[in-house]
Amino acid sequence: MSAADAITKLQGKRPLEEDTSELTPGKLPQKKYFRQRAHANPFSDHQLDYPVQPSDYDWSKHYPAHFPAAGTNGEASGKEVEFADIGCGYGGLLIALSPLFPSTLMLGMEIRVKVEEYVEKRIQALRSQNDSKGRDEAESYQNISVSRMNAMKFMPNFFKKGQLSKLFFLFPDPHFKKKKHKARIVTSTLLAEYAYVLRPNGILYTVTDVRDLHLWMVKHLDEHPLFERIPEEDLRDDPCVPCVMGETEEGKKVERNKGDKFLAVYRRLEKGKELGEWKGFKPIFEVGKDKDGEGDGEEEEAGDD
Ligand SMILES: C[S@@+](CC[C@H](N)C(=O)[O-])C[C@H]1O[C@@H](n2cnc3c(N)ncnc32)[C@H](O)[C@@H]1O
Repeated sequence: MSAADAITKLQGKRPLEEDTSELTPGKLPQKKYFRQRAHANPFSDHQLDYPVQPSDYDWSKHYPAHFPAAGTNGEASGKEVEFADIGCGYGGLLIALSPLFPSTLMLGMEIRVKVEEYVEKRIQALRSQNDSKGRDEAESYQNISVSRMNAMKFMPNFFKKGQLSKLFFLFPDPHFKKKKHKARIVTSTLLAEYAYVLRPNGILYTVTDVRDLHLWMVKHLDEHPLFERIPEEDLRDDPCVPCVMGETEEGKKVERNKGDKFLAVYRRLEKGKELGEWKGFKPIFEVGKDKDGEGDGEEEEAGDD
C-alpha cells in the first residue's frame, strides 16, 4: 500500500480512484475521473501551448494518419483543419460529425485541462476500437482531435485567414452577470477574429438554452457586417443541424431537463453588408435587471490551473 493510500485509510476516506483506460487500448475513459469546476476564467494566464503562427503548428500529433511525419503542418501535406468546435466540452459534437465528414479534419478547442484530457482519451479509444478502418472511412475517427486552448485569445495562431468552413459555438458559458458579459465567447471584437478564420460562405453555428445569451449572440452577429443569418427553412438539409441540437453533452442534458434550445446559424459573407447608422456596442435590450448582477445563480470564477 502506498503512503498516500495508508494515510487515506487512516483518515477513513476512500482511496483516490484514477482513470485506467489508457492501460487497455480501446477502453473508453470514464467521465467521472475528468470532472472539473464548471467555469475556467478565459482572462487568466493559463499555461497553454500555442504556435506563433499557424504554419508553425505540428498537426501530426493530432492527426497521425493524415500527417504521418512528425512536424508536418497543413501546407506541407495539403490537409488542413476545416471545422472548429469552440468550447467542445466532452467532445460529443466531434464524435457525431466525424463519420458524416470522414475526410474533413475537425478540431475541438477546450480551455479546461481535465475535459480536454478526457476528449483526447475518448478519441484515442475510438481510434483503437476501429483500427481496421481506412483513414478516410466513416468511424475511423482519424479526422477528429482536441486542443487545450483559449479560443478568446489564440484563434489566429492556429488558423490562417479563411481556413475554416465551419465554426461551432454550442451551449457556450452564459456568463449571466452583466459585469461578466465581456467573458462571453461571442462579442463584436471576437467576431472579427472568427470572420478572419472563416472562409467566405463558411458557416457559424450557435446553440444555447439561455434565451438572453441567444439574443446577445444574434444581436452581435446581426450587427456584424460580415455575417448574415441563414433562415431556418434553408437549414433543413444541413446534416450538422441535428448534431448541433442534440449530440453534445450539454444539449443532451438540456433535453433531459426539457429545456429550450435556441439555434442561430450565420453565413460568413464575402463582402461586408450595408449596415444602418452605427449605434455602438451598447446592448439594445436589457439582459437581467439587477445592477450588481446578484442572484443569477452563477458561481464566481477563478483560474483553474
Ligand atoms: C457549457 S460547456 C458546453 C460544451 C459543449 N459545447 C457542449 O455543448 O456540450 C462550455 C465549454 O466551453 C469551454 N470554454 C469556455 N471558454 C472557453 C475558451 N475561451 N476557450 C475554449 N474553451 C472554452 C468550457 O470549458 C466548457 O467546456
